[in-house]
Amino acid sequence: MSAIRAAVFRDPGRPVEIEPLALAEPRAGEVRVRMTASGVCHSDLHVRDGDWPRPGPVAMGHEGAGVVEALGPGVTALRVGQPVALSWLVPCGECRACRAGMPWACPSSPSFGHRMADGATVLETAGGEPVLSYCGIGTMAEATVVPVAAAVPLPDGVDPGVAALIGCCVSTGVGAVIKTAAVPAGASVAVIGLGGVGLSCVMGAVLANAARIVAIDRVPAKLDVAREFGATDGLLAGDDRVETIAALRDLTDGGPDFVFEAIGRVPTVELAIEALPIGGTAVLVGMTPFESRASFAVFPFVDGSRRILGSNYGFADPAIDFPRYAQLVLDGRLPVDRLIDRRIGLDDLEPAFDRLRSGEGLRQVIVFD
Ligand code: APR
Ligand code: ZN
Ligand code: ZN
Repeated sequence: MSAIRAAVFRDPGRPVEIEPLALAEPRAGEVRVRMTASGVCHSDLHVRDGDWPRPGPVAMGHEGAGVVEALGPGVTALRVGQPVALSWLVPCGECRACRAGMPWACPSSPSFGHRMADGATVLETAGGEPVLSYCGIGTMAEATVVPVAAAVPLPDGVDPGVAALIGCCVSTGVGAVIKTAAVPAGASVAVIGLGGVGLSCVMGAVLANAARIVAIDRVPAKLDVAREFGATDGLLAGDDRVETIAALRDLTDGGPDFVFEAIGRVPTVELAIEALPIGGTAVLVGMTPFESRASFAVFPFVDGSRRILGSNYGFADPAIDFPRYAQLVLDGRLPVDRLIDRRIGLDDLEPAFDRLRSGEGLRQVIVFD
């Protein structure tokens, strides 16, 4: 057992507390990772605020990176000292989605139970109460024990904060553009919502050589940031959807070929679909509350051969895609470091959630020393 500190969620709406916990030794098929960085993603806020019911207590965080510190018996795929980014989805390998080569869509992943594959938990309180690990990795902790498949080796020289973001928002946003939608060079793209995920969609669109990239947000400062990432135009979203759609059509010769919704709100999902030109594709990337339903006019959708795609985790196959994205960062083709506007300590998590809730700022990353 090692003594660590971790951000523990107990009840929706209640502030997350930083608690001392005992971390079990890695068993066969597991490794211990000393965390170097963990991003604060909007999905963490969904959990914190109770949008998504989650069992407690759970060590939070699903966007993290670290260094392999100890190997379970028989583990040979990794070595001590190796830098890794953590994947929040380890596929079951057996279900229909896995057999079809879509690990990102696996509904039976043990990660969703916030436990190891055999149901074990690796954390407990001083009083012996078991604590779950969010998505089986619980990254907002000084160290974590994870399944080997969740720890993906990266090339040397990647900044820890950047490595952490590759574990969620970069894979989700860049992958939505280059994998899910496979945007062709010269296409026009709109991105609604310019947080870590949306700005990663903008980076993906630049990588794909999209000709026009319209960045949309309700916070004016975000539009300037998106331009720095390579967006060609910024569009401030007001409350009037008709006005936003008209302005978007003006900028894109009647509507963008691809619209990425990177917020997870019904009105912006509906906006994304309604803004499509003939033959256009809406890619839904943001995660809504569980029960959300959206509607759209069916006749023009069918008549105009439009498409809607759902994109979970940017169709990531972490063992292949994480090192690829890391190499693109090292080659100067994915400016992920620009997403990080604040490096904070574990104790600063609640103020970081407040800032995220207001739509202010870019990605905040917890760094561990
Ligand atoms: N119109 C336009 N922009 C909006 C609106 C709106 N109605 N509502 C929110 N936004 C903008 C915010 O101003 C912010 O810039 O959307 C952005 C959301 O960014 P973050 O809160 O940083 O969210 P992020 O971590 O990028 O995640 C986005 O993807 O993985 C999912 O669960 C995650 O649903 C979340 C989404
Ligand atoms: Zn995330
Ligand atoms: Zn599966």
